[in-house]
Amino acid sequence: MKFFIDTANLDQIKEAQDLGVLDGVTTNPSLMAKEGITGKENIIAHYKKICEITTGDVSAEVIATDFDNIVKEGEELAALHDQIIVKVPMIKEGIKAIKYFSDKGIKTNCTLVFSAGQALLAAKAGATYVSPFIGRLDDISTDGLNLIMEIRQIYDNYGFDTQILAASVRHTMHVIDCAKIGADVMTGPLSAITGLLNHPLTDIGLEKFLADHKKGN
Ligand code: E4P
Repeated sequence: MKFFIDTANLDQIKEAQDLGVLDGVTTNPSLMAKEGITGKENIIAHYKKICEITTGDVSAEVIATDFDNIVKEGEELAALHDQIIVKVPMIKEGIKAIKYFSDKGIKTNCTLVFSAGQALLAAKAGATYVSPFIGRLDDISTDGLNLIMEIRQIYDNYGFDTQILAASVRHTMHVIDCAKIGADVMTGPLSAITGLLNHPLTDIGLEKFLADHKKGN
């Protein structure tokens, strides 16, 4: 299972990279705005900085919503760095663009996916990754993990290569449940990754081991 961090915060990306378990980064326009990164030039410079920190895939989202401009913007983003994955929204023009990018060998992440039908279309179009937003489904009392299960079954039935990127992950249980279901990737906040470290019995056990070692020395 690949671990992506869902942030545009460079310190957090560095921290996850230093842990040695980071496989990539996802961003979106809201995450960029949260870090105060605005304007095309600054956004492009920021993507380049992220690519310098991580060795993995970096999703960069297009703003355009019509085919011609999604393609123009996506090609510009893809040319920035070979780690860039063009993130395209799940809309009609987006699906057409994903097919175009796929035919050209440009990798894509189909974002804002909330149903199995949308995920099926993304795979048919040749998306590299599909991003079902599980946390946002949970927010509206719909089972996000059930969607991951449905997509896993559909992709396995037909051997689609599209990787299931469980997105909008909010906490460690989302990560563990996605791993049990067989999501290929999860993207979440740093806390969902570092939270996996924690167990009180580890802390108690280590404290005792160190105390006993001290007694014998
Ligand atoms: C996916 O790539 C999105 O950036 C992200 O996971 C959205 O998460 P949120 O619902 O916590 O905003």
